[in-house]
Amino acid sequence: MQTNEGNRAGSLAHHGGSALSVQRFEEIDSTNAEALRQFKLLTEGEHCAPSALIAESQTAGRGRRGRAWLSKPGAGLYLTVTRTFSLEPDALQGLSLVVGLAVQSALISLGASEIKLKWPNDIIHKGSKLGGILLELRQVQNLSHVAMGIGINIDLKEQEALSLDRPTVDLTRIIGSGIDKETLFVALLNKLSEDIDRFIVHGFGSFIVRWNEADYYLGKRVTVLQGQEHFRGISCGVDATGALMLKQSAASDPMGSTGEDTMLRFEGGELSPSLRPEGD
Ligand code: BTN
Repeated sequence: MQTNEGNRAGSLAHHGGSALSVQRFEEIDSTNAEALRQFKLLTEGEHCAPSALIAESQTAGRGRRGRAWLSKPGAGLYLTVTRTFSLEPDALQGLSLVVGLAVQSALISLGASEIKLKWPNDIIHKGSKLGGILLELRQVQNLSHVAMGIGINIDLKEQEALSLDRPTVDLTRIIGSGIDKETLFVALLNKLSEDIDRFIVHGFGSFIVRWNEADYYLGKRVTVLQGQEHFRGISCGVDATGALMLKQSAASDPMGSTGEDTMLRFEGGELSPSLRPEGD
């Protein structure tokens, strides 16, 4: 079942100067998939009406890298915000990091502590995953219709948390029970509006300092998995495009070193904490 409402007066910021329309679903396959379906209905050159699609549950929630996103009723917040941008798809790497920052700010504004980010798109609390972001895109000529999907764990049953393939945490464990999903929803929309408008005007360069402050792994040993390859090194944060910088020390170069550290740059990939010393 779906219900539609306009911008609930006064409570939600305007997105890109337009009122945001809210679409609520009791159950849906995926709010991102629904956003992509709606993009297909747009005529050439038409911008999508900025919208927030929120569901109580998803039957086929999508995560990054083709993973499923567990989306039972009451277990989490499942939200997709849509906007059309006149920017090159390359700039979207930066946009997805900006969405992470907006989510972090919204959670902190509700009293959650120690909320950090893991490049490129995880919301982290003390090393455990609290939420994730999945941007999906429909490019039509010079317009990028973007579905910004946000999933935040609110109350995972212990068994559900154990069934996930990584340490996971939910908001109830961080700030206690009685979380008002509606307050979180409004805070998210307002922070997103602020940060996306800033991104459009100033680009990701204006978020580097904030992102690196939010980065849980900055200065730590990590492994970046890209395709079948693993790269170990020290995470040095992001550059002006949102790419991750990884420093490999000369001593760890198995091919015999030039005596200098190497800085690698990643536009995509998966980061994990490195349990072994660099070079092993
Ligand atoms: C990740 O793998 O970390 C990203 C998870 C993104 C999940 C959200 S829930 C709302 C939106 N709809 C989806 O199907 N996925 C995103």
